[in-house]
Amino acid sequence: MNHYFTNSEIKSNLKEFKLEIDDKSFIFATDNGVFSKKGLDFGSRLLIETLIKENLSGNLLEVGCGYGIIGIILSKEFNLDVDMVDVNDRAIHLTQMNIKKNKSSSNVFHSDCYSEVSKKYDYIITNPPIRAGKKVVYDILFNAKDYLNKSGVLYFVMRKEQGALSTIKDLNKVCEAEVLIKHKGYLVIKAKFVWLDS
Ligand SMILES: C[S@@+](CC[C@H](N)C(=O)[O-])C[C@H]1O[C@@H](n2cnc3c(N)ncnc32)[C@H](O)[C@@H]1O
Repeated sequence: MNHYFTNSEIKSNLKEFKLEIDDKSFIFATDNGVFSKKGLDFGSRLLIETLIKENLSGNLLEVGCGYGIIGIILSKEFNLDVDMVDVNDRAIHLTQMNIKKNKSSSNVFHSDCYSEVSKKYDYIITNPPIRAGKKVVYDILFNAKDYLNKSGVLYFVMRKEQGALSTIKDLNKVCEAEVLIKHKGYLVIKAKFVWLDS
């Protein structure tokens, strides 16, 4: 079956849309074969709106960036060095276009979860690819520890019906995970890993 993250045979239909968020205007190129191609996903909006209140600084990695909407908005909102990764080549190409369109200084590269990630970050964020399966989602969430600085934080959004509560329970075995906001069945979760030597 073709998913939006394995889209090489899906015919292209490049479009653009405008978006206002937090009194700033953005323009995004989008296409067939990428997640939420018609505009900002509800969960992604909730994650952005929650993070805008968190006052971030330093560097940030977004895993599963799609066409770059979350990472680009946060790179313009804060003084942040943003890297974004995805496995979908079309999404990566759109993100490169969207970085230029929005005059963002962020970077994007291909990576299967963390396979090509070599740095450590202050923040890792994700609206994880539920349709890719629990193994991929848990790889992104649990292995974030290896790519975070010791004071680093993981933020993600997940629906209750997609297993958010059991994910929090599992994370709490290795993390301190708390729900920052719950809205219309979507939860934004903040997780800090526990380091034995700190
Ligand atoms: C739910 S979408 C979120 C997209 C974008 N961040 C947004 O909010 O619109 C999840 C993204 O994860 C990507 N993805 C799927 N499997 C992946 C993997 N193994 N490693 C990295 N990204 C992956 C998909 O291609 C998709 O773009």
